Amino acid sequence: MILYKSMSEIDTMRKSGHIVALVLDHLSSIVRPGITTWDLEEAALDFLKATEPSAIPAFKGYMGYPTSLCVSINDEVVHGIPSKKRIIKEGDVVSIDFGVFYNGYAGDAATTIIAGKGTPEAENLLKITRESLYEGIKHAKVGNYLHDISAAIQEYVEDHGYSVVRELVGHGIGQSMHEAPQVPNFGEKGTGIIIRPGLTIAVEPMVTTGNYDVVFLNDGWTAVTTDGSLAAHFEHSLAITSQGTFILTEL
Ligand code: MF3
Ligand code: CO
Repeated sequence: MILYKSMSEIDTMRKSGHIVALVLDHLSSIVRPGITTWDLEEAALDFLKATEPSAIPAFKGYMGYPTSLCVSINDEVVHGIPSKKRIIKEGDVVSIDFGVFYNGYAGDAATTIIAGKGTPEAENLLKITRESLYEGIKHAKVGNYLHDISAAIQEYVEDHGYSVVRELVGHGIGQSMHEAPQVPNFGEKGTGIIIRPGLTIAVEPMVTTGNYDVVFLNDGWTAVTTDGSLAAHFEHSLAITSQGTFILTEL
């Protein structure tokens, strides 16, 4: 069942989303070769406490997920678990994903940065993945079909020679981090539900330089590309209303 949100619920979600955006902006500024992915976990929690102590990290404990942040490097697509042993290297493609609950409503977003200097291929992957998210968001409008968003992302990514992951998708968001509907990053335009005012969704293209198959590591969480190709992930939470579409997790 899709839970359409009132304007006052969306106002709360703006705040949840803003908190997530601030944390990701802070983490992006400190990613560099030599730090560990655990340093990012700690930095997220310290920054959150200093910025909005009443916000609660959304991922830790979710279906047993052990930490508050996901950090996924190179062939890791999503849900990498921060570790004191994982040192970020020059040129690593680092995807960071964070979410909170604030006043009972979730915000969820992700971004990808390169530690130090990246290869031209890595730089281009980030550019195309970020742009594909915004291509999708252009179609996130009342009256459109949900999969107009999906199709726009897929077309943009494939036109640039990359692949969109099929096994993991975006989602509705609200009082739960994951709600109906699913928001795939591939599909046919003119299919799916018709978007009605109050729909709140997280759109999150996961893009690889190779093929789109992923497999999960023994930790039960980390999704990696099966061909070892590089992956990037960008995510925004959105509220689609009759007054327009608001990107809740953009500064
Ligand atoms: N943005 C991710 C998602 O929507 C974060 C979930 S990590 C989890 O799936 F551990 F909490 F599942
Ligand atoms: Co998400």
